[in-house]
Amino acid sequence: KILILDFGSQVTQLIARRVRDSKVLSEIYPYDIDEGRLSQIVKNENVKGIILSGGPSSVTEGDTPRAPALVFNLGLPVLGICYGMQTMAEQLGGQVQTAESLGKSREFGYAEVRARGHTPLLNGIMDFETLEGHGILKVWMSHGDSVTAMPEGFKLMASTDSCPIAGMADEVRQFYAVQFHPEVTHTVQGTAILEKFVHDICACRPDWEMGDYISEAVATIKAQVGSDEVILGLSGGVDSSVAAALIHRAIGNQLTCVFVDHGLLRLNEGQMVMEMFANNLGVKVIHVQAEEQFMGKLAGVSDPEQKRKIIGREFVEVFQAESAKIENAKWLAQGTIYPDVIESAGKGKKGAHTIKSHHNVGGLPDDMHLKLLEPLRELFKDEVRELGIALGLPKEMVYRHPFPGPGLAVRILGEVKQDFAHLLQRADAIFIEELRNTIDPSTGKSWYDLTSQAFAVFLPVKSVGVMGDGRTYEYVVALRAVQTLDFMTAHWAHLPHELLGKVSNRIINEVRGINRVVYDISGKPPATIEWE
Ligand code: XMP
Repeated sequence: KILILDFGSQVTQLIARRVRDSKVLSEIYPYDIDEGRLSQIVKNENVKGIILSGGPSSVTEGDTPRAPALVFNLGLPVLGICYGMQTMAEQLGGQVQTAESLGKSREFGYAEVRARGHTPLLNGIMDFETLEGHGILKVWMSHGDSVTAMPEGFKLMASTDSCPIAGMADEVRQFYAVQFHPEVTHTVQGTAILEKFVHDICACRPDWEMGDYISEAVATIKAQVGSDEVILGLSGGVDSSVAAALIHRAIGNQLTCVFVDHGLLRLNEGQMVMEMFANNLGVKVIHVQAEEQFMGKLAGVSDPEQKRKIIGREFVEVFQAESAKIENAKWLAQGTIYPDVIESAGKGKKGAHTIKSHHNVGGLPDDMHLKLLEPLRELFKDEVRELGIALGLPKEMVYRHPFPGPGLAVRILGEVKQDFAHLLQRADAIFIEELRNTIDPSTGKSWYDLTSQAFAVFLPVKSVGVMGDGRTYEYVVALRAVQTLDFMTAHWAHLPHELLGKVSNRIINEVRGINRVVYDISGKPPATIEWE
């Protein structure tokens, strides 16, 4: 196992992720972990190396974070990254100076580092060699302070024009440090560097798998929860589903899921969630059918933000009323994943605009007096999916496109009506079915898997058509399909015309009330993925 001591960097979790990617277990602890506890962990948990993360402070100021002195006396390899390098230098007798005192500006972004390829950390992993024979690494830098004198025993491992000591190594004690960030993808060889550290220098065997995560997480959840009862808001989405399956694996019937069906879910979704969790997995699920209640509150409301707020508020109310019935509930479990943690940390930043007020099942109020249980907090989406598969959830569920908390309410433009929702559910199901059934010959994948999100949108405008011998005057459905990595920007998907044609035919023939289907060819930006 690798220990990561966190000095407060935004990207500490990325270090953990890269270590997991190299099939080695890692665990993050705060930098000020008690020395007694640290030596216990090192002794009992087969710790083979320590990584010191970056952080926002400056070691040049007196009262800033330092690694426990013990870290450097354990005989274990240590890798310092950014602030971790600076504190290592300072604590071992070197010198660190601020950019101001050196008369330089701070350095953010891409840099080319001249590196010595023969240190064990960088051996054989240069991006390219210069004519003079220097190895060059393309890296990401983000720092103000720099190490200006190395501690005794260290030799220079890397440098840039603006940062002469960008990497240092004491091969005897196995202490390594880099000013740049190997954990971010902009550092081209970053993964290779971290792998060198954990596999070669720390001699960790690459045998950790997602399956191992389950047993660790199960043990942690059991220890945390004891004999208390836990409530979880199940939405049918990937994150809450995986969290439910994991927690159920740990504590069985001490978990109660509350599934609030606001009537704005995809076709048959309620039945599918109950089938999966209650019948197949044997999880206790309360299925709250609140369609009437939500529709009542939404009647006459057509402003998108207003609709979102009403649904968010109503959701919390229903959820709270149900949870209050569960005696002895002490914990609220949520499927919070790492990008959510980052996103909410970034909220409230000055100058950021609210484009849409996102409501999530996770957005529950603090006044429920429940402790939070968030077993997926450290994982990235693709890892959550892998975990879901390892827990035995079906692939179709784990690799499902995302679905927004307010559901079809943001896909029925303007006022939400029950019969609009029913038309939309059927049109949407046809679209999804055809996407799943149409295989792209060049990739062998279905168009469902080739798109990141796809759905139908109900437009409450009528247009004229002709069916058989008769004139029709009915509603319009728009199809939306996008490809994106992060949902921040997106391209509309170039679906095959035959596929679009088939979907259009089926919707118009099978869904009475729709006589026209259009395809949305707007990118994000300037459009958003959802229509509201
Ligand atoms: P937009 O429409 O903002 O959507 O381009 C980006 C992604 O966010 C999803 N989305 C939501 N998810 N609650 C959610 O849980 C919401 O209120 C919400 N609004 C949008 C959207 O489906 C897309 O994946």
